[in-house]
Amino acid sequence: MQRKGTTPATFDLFAEDTPQLPSQEQIGPESFVFRGFALPFIEQLLPALESVLTQAPFRNMVTPGGYTMSVALSSCGEFGWITDRSGYKYSPINPLTGQPWPAMPGVFMELAVAAASAAGFAAFVPDACLINRYIPGAKMSLHQDKDERGLEWPVVSVSLGLPAMFLFGGDERRDPTQRVPLFHGDVVVWGGVDRLRFHGVMPVRQGEHPQLGEQRINFTFRKAR
Ligand code: SIN
Ligand code: FE2
Repeated sequence: MQRKGTTPATFDLFAEDTPQLPSQEQIGPESFVFRGFALPFIEQLLPALESVLTQAPFRNMVTPGGYTMSVALSSCGEFGWITDRSGYKYSPINPLTGQPWPAMPGVFMELAVAAASAAGFAAFVPDACLINRYIPGAKMSLHQDKDERGLEWPVVSVSLGLPAMFLFGGDERRDPTQRVPLFHGDVVVWGGVDRLRFHGVMPVRQGEHPQLGEQRINFTFRKAR
């Protein structure tokens, strides 16, 4: 590495114009998008995900209103987020298998803790990781994450595979939304004054991701209890 002043001027200019990767965008007072933050973890993350999904396969759950979600869900960690005709809740047991959820892999925890800390939430220890699978056409309507007891802790959301348009709204459903394109490896963290902001995902477009194929996978880490 050459020191400043010893490099040609053109090189200096180029260096100043090139964004540092991974880069960060602020989308709220306590909300950030960390571009490519999960990429250094990916080689460990994908086999760990495979192992979780073998123990707790994806399935399409029904909302209390009787609507079958287009996004298929699984979970790992102490608590899994589930929905059925009786409501949304966290459960220590996977209703599909009658077993506890798979333990949260170390690399999942490491990634979540690092991202939370980069957003200013030190000492975040998630006990729930919801795993969402979007096939092309699948979407998530605007909602708030409010089934957790630990609302003082942030939400850490990791995007893998096909890109998607994330909608980040306000505290009221009718508030305008920001459109935030999310790509493989991006991590969004929202907490503090932003913790209850409405958010959702527009229908995922047809495509083929080199590592994950025709799907988008999202991990959402939270402190449920
Ligand atoms: C969620 O809100 O649970 C998922 C968000 C996402 O898929 O990016
Ligand atoms: Fe959510």
